[in-house]
Amino acid sequence: MSTDKPIPQHVAIIMDGNGRWAKQRGLDRSEGHIAGVESIRTTLKAALRHGVRQLTFYAFSTENWGRPQAEVEALMELLCRSIINETPELKKQGVRVQIIGERSRFSERVQYYLAQIEQETAASEKLTMVLALNYSSRDELRRAMQQIGREVAEGHLQPEAIDEQTIAAHLDTAGMPDPDLVIRTSGEQRLSNFLMWQSAYAEFYFPEVLWPDFSEEEFARALEVYAKRDRRFGLVK
Ligand code: FPP
Repeated sequence: MSTDKPIPQHVAIIMDGNGRWAKQRGLDRSEGHIAGVESIRTTLKAALRHGVRQLTFYAFSTENWGRPQAEVEALMELLCRSIINETPELKKQGVRVQIIGERSRFSERVQYYLAQIEQETAASEKLTMVLALNYSSRDELRRAMQQIGREVAEGHLQPEAIDEQTIAAHLDTAGMPDPDLVIRTSGEQRLSNFLMWQSAYAEFYFPEVLWPDFSEEEFARALEVYAKRDRRFGLVK
């Protein structure tokens, strides 16, 4: 798609509203998550068409373990099934999948599939799809601080030498661009522990639509809104 409008390089999405979508239809919450996976597919297609280079999805937060066990199990099953079903098409489309978050809490089976999809798609270069799983910003910063602390204690790093680049390089997102645009669906206007460090200069967009109803048109609208924003990064323009 050729256009003169600024296109965000990295769009990060908080997929909210699956439960409400299911409830409105008298369905189980897990049906909302299944419909949510369809929206991920739709969004990915739209992002490829518009030339977006990275999409990050908040798929499972560290807080989500507190949901009913049946819902957590359904999400884990959906995750494994989606990886099995989608990997060939993702490869074909040139999509690389990377995971952020602390994965040791997942079952061996889930960890196996996460490693599998990362390896299988490692050579893809058109778009990077990042799944935030057992992720929260505070937990990511905690783990980064521990690692930095270890390096200081071992004498490999001087405390005075720690700068913003040092911190960024110890986050799960090391080497990835910061999000230019953060979208949260369902009308909620919160960051909920998602990419807090990385979103320092992001633009925010909060459409009312529930995540399972997020469409190609909705994605295009988000890009329109982004294109009209005046990003100054703390400078005078
Ligand atoms: C928020 O809706 C959605 C989630 C917590 C999970 C999103 C997951 C997917 C779309 C599926 C892909 C991810 C995996 C792990 C398979 P909500 O349940 O909070 O909705 P509500 O606010 O209406 O209750």
